[in-house]
Amino acid sequence: MSKDIKLAPSILSADFSSLGHQITELNKYDIDNIHIDVMDGHFVPNITIGSVVVESIRPFTNLPFHVHMMVNSPDKLIPDFVNAGSDRIIIHLEACIDIRKSIFQIKELGIEVGIAINPATSIDLIKPILSDVDEILIMSVNPGFGGQKFIPSSLEKINKLRLEIDELDLDIDIGVDGGINLETAPMVSQSGANLLVAGSAILGNDFPIKDNIMNIKAVLNY
Ligand code: DX5
Ligand code: ZN
Repeated sequence: MSKDIKLAPSILSADFSSLGHQITELNKYDIDNIHIDVMDGHFVPNITIGSVVVESIRPFTNLPFHVHMMVNSPDKLIPDFVNAGSDRIIIHLEACIDIRKSIFQIKELGIEVGIAINPATSIDLIKPILSDVDEILIMSVNPGFGGQKFIPSSLEKINKLRLEIDELDLDIDIGVDGGINLETAPMVSQSGANLLVAGSAILGNDFPIKDNIMNIKAVLNY
């Protein structure tokens, strides 16, 4: 099972003064995509990365860019992020007025679509759109900042979602974002998640990126 677990470093914990170099470093290792956190200061109380930054780091790797949009009403911003080189755009259910319209806008632009849900949002609300998306991203912290503590009740949500997706025989990612580390990574993968986002555990501590990635893979029994 663990062979299929995908690992996505979140560059929110990177050194922004040398973002290109950090992407070059990440590109050396066996990871699956780069997770890019876009925050607008409204949907979440923080401002981070715009499409110009995505465009500027695009030449540093061929790895897919998964852009996690923590912004209100993302529709008007989506074309810029697609043109900047995003491969998957993840929008929040809570941030969209018409989630189906947003999903189809992203699909029409020719890239993949994910839906993120906050810790307080029930997975029942995303059941009707499961067959229209490439990923459900379960937020295991309240979005806005890196380095927060994993919320344990996320495990039950992952579990329920895995059962639902398998029952429907869908091939979509169950992502988990927030507080993923050597302790929580095995817990979320055992609960049924297959795409683990990790910021501070890969880029936000004193250890080399290489060791951090190797250690996470080791606890997942790669
Ligand atoms: C939080 C972001 C995460 C963040 C995770 O709002 O969506 O992607 O970078 O950081 P860690 O892994 O440090 O919890
Ligand atoms: Zn994120």
